[in-house]
Amino acid sequence: MDRRRFVGQGALGLASLLMAGRGGGAERLQEKPSALIDAQKPLSCLAFGSCNRSLLDQSYWKLIAREQPDLWVWLGDTIYADGALPDQRRAMFQDLFRNPHYTRFRQQVPIIGTWDDHDFAGDNQDGRFRDKLASKNSLLEFLEIPEDHPVWGHQGVYQSYSYGPQGQKTQVILLDLRFNMDRQKNVHSLLGDLQWAWLEAELKESDADLIVIGSSLNVLSPVNGLGLEGWHGFRQDKARLLELLSACGKPTVLLSGDRHFAEFAATRLSNGLPVYEIMSSGLTHALGIKLPHSERIGEMVGLKNFGLVHISWETNGPKITLELRSTERYQSLQAIHAPFTEV
Ligand SMILES: [Fe+2]
Repeated sequence: MDRRRFVGQGALGLASLLMAGRGGGAERLQEKPSALIDAQKPLSCLAFGSCNRSLLDQSYWKLIAREQPDLWVWLGDTIYADGALPDQRRAMFQDLFRNPHYTRFRQQVPIIGTWDDHDFAGDNQDGRFRDKLASKNSLLEFLEIPEDHPVWGHQGVYQSYSYGPQGQKTQVILLDLRFNMDRQKNVHSLLGDLQWAWLEAELKESDADLIVIGSSLNVLSPVNGLGLEGWHGFRQDKARLLELLSACGKPTVLLSGDRHFAEFAATRLSNGLPVYEIMSSGLTHALGIKLPHSERIGEMVGLKNFGLVHISWETNGPKITLELRSTERYQSLQAIHAPFTEV
């Protein structure tokens, strides 16, 4: 499909369609465009989440807006379109896009994102999914990605963004763990060669002061199986990622989702620096289960939640606080400081 036509008729064109056919309230709601970020301004609060059954109540968006984040990051399973045809998946994205609660939110907070299995294809599906290009178009349309953005040329939806001036610069790298994932034993790959090369270049050439990596699947947990996916099921990829972060040597926070519970964890890289993971899941549904994790910090959170990365820019670098907050009430569920000190 012609990309320009698709974008033109899609999310950006949707507002005018709605204005033509809806009552006054909807018109006013849609007239205001989605918020844009000022890339020159340092990030001080990044919010993210995953696992959103978009047919369930979406009124929680006001609780996230109340935190006044500089940025919202979708970490996957934004909709549950299992078994949907491409047009049905696109329609589900569009329904969420124009949901009044989400509309108000995206008019206040800039949004970027990646995907996971349920918005990409279906439960635990990999890159052999035949409609993956149509899925990519639908996600990028939902995210209102400009037609000249490099992601359109990628084999997948992996993206990189930089915010803030030198000395206070955050690079947000969003990985795609679906488009190139191949579970076949003779391949067993999570990112694919092109994405690995891209990630290596991004980290090597980065002039950021803080790296945030968005991974739809959990990175550090030693548990997989029982229907749970994660980097632990792709151990060579996990070791390769941690070695890359060690070589990069910058303070790094990993964001993840997918598992329907939340937790903090940290591991020590071979360069002596810690890397932290904050997993937030899910926005509309969660499970109170117990799993072992020797690198977990604090408790597992089995309540519906979203995640926050608070960044305070000190003279000697970023000072990070990670927080999990409820999507059911105005409540902090757990928070930790994340110092990047060598041992
Ligand atoms: Fe998932």
